[in-house]
Amino acid sequence: MSGKITDLKAREILDCRGWPTVQADVYVDNQLLGRADVPQGRSTGTHEAYVLTDGDPNRYRGLGVRKAVQNIEGPIRDVLVGRDVTEQRAIDFALIDLDGTPNKRNLGANAILGASLAVARAGAASAGVPLYRYLNPFAHVLPVPLMNFLNGGKLTANELEIQEFIIMPVGAENYDHAMQMTTEINEHLRELVIARYGILATNTGDEGGFATPMKGIWEPFEFLQKAVEKAGYKAGFGEDVVYGLDCASSHWHDKATGLYMLDGVSYERDALIELYKEVASKYPLGSVEDPLDEEDFDGFVAVTKALPQTQIVGDDLFVTNVERLRVGVARGAANAMLFKVNQIGSLSQAFDSAEYAYRHGYGVQVSERSGETEDPLISDLVVALNGGQIKTGMPIRSERTSKHNRLLQIEGELGSVATYAGHHFRRPR
Ligand code: PGA
Ligand code: ZN
Repeated sequence: MSGKITDLKAREILDCRGWPTVQADVYVDNQLLGRADVPQGRSTGTHEAYVLTDGDPNRYRGLGVRKAVQNIEGPIRDVLVGRDVTEQRAIDFALIDLDGTPNKRNLGANAILGASLAVARAGAASAGVPLYRYLNPFAHVLPVPLMNFLNGGKLTANELEIQEFIIMPVGAENYDHAMQMTTEINEHLRELVIARYGILATNTGDEGGFATPMKGIWEPFEFLQKAVEKAGYKAGFGEDVVYGLDCASSHWHDKATGLYMLDGVSYERDALIELYKEVASKYPLGSVEDPLDEEDFDGFVAVTKALPQTQIVGDDLFVTNVERLRVGVARGAANAMLFKVNQIGSLSQAFDSAEYAYRHGYGVQVSERSGETEDPLISDLVVALNGGQIKTGMPIRSERTSKHNRLLQIEGELGSVATYAGHHFRRPR
């Protein structure tokens, strides 16, 4: 066995919304050893890497990805064939050079990432170990899942501006127990939602949380709190669960006026920070993602100071890009980075961002995209990073359960060395 890449193949497949995305295969010594699917967002940040779509209105209303597929089977294949499959970093940077643009506009981030992830899988297979262990033999931390029970924003057809109302089972004994707690709470929430809004309100959004007619910020918290209590759990720092939000606020921020429009009320930045403070004074708020607009580094500094007990996560703010993270770290904007591989478009660059985050005391939260497939790759990544936290939707749709189920497998494989991050999700021990 030479361990050399002998071929790459790719195809157009569908994500959970029925939108085309890329699947890539890597052959080593003429054997198919690595396959990976590329996730894609809908509530995307302005500074994300470029997703190459065909733009042909006669196929998928322009959303086809045949050009990206051709780039994998053409120029990317030409550069990778003959290389040692375990040279992940050299391979990723060869593709970045081949593209030659800062945001991967030539080949498409979806083409480069598909190849990058499939190479990682093939490297692990050639080494005969699971992906998380191939990427890090010291991997042992099982993450706290951020469960988005109530969905709004761009991922749901309702009027709730805030995209995700989250429960974090920080007091669980392990990942297995975290899943049990989640489902128990969700069943109580379902009954509460039906009692108030009827059965139709239990339809779910893209990431599996209920898409209810609730509005604003207070009502969703009241429902979460009741469901937690009915399930027999306690909310609080050091208790069973804490709460979280993904505000995705760039999407309800008016760039022209600088105002945030929430439930019919317009907020200046400082007034919005006051509102978050009020929430944090009434509920144990463990984590808030994108509380302010993606360009407002100063605002992120202010909100990070204003909520000392709360993790402030930059998603659209940082877009997994080490350059933007450097700006944030230098100023003290946020104290955690959302980690989405397709925002930056290669595994090596995403790992660079995570490492930079850790070195500067920032947390790393590995995340799904709203457009996922059944590929559970991010579960291996969060364990490889010893990241301590994952956001991968409610455990009710297969593209989400595939990740949770993979983490249950990994927890079992790790056995006695598995450590559930629990209360220390931002800085796992
Ligand atoms: P996206 O949404 O995958 O559509 O960007 C998820 C998020 O904003 O975290
Ligand atoms: Zn987000």
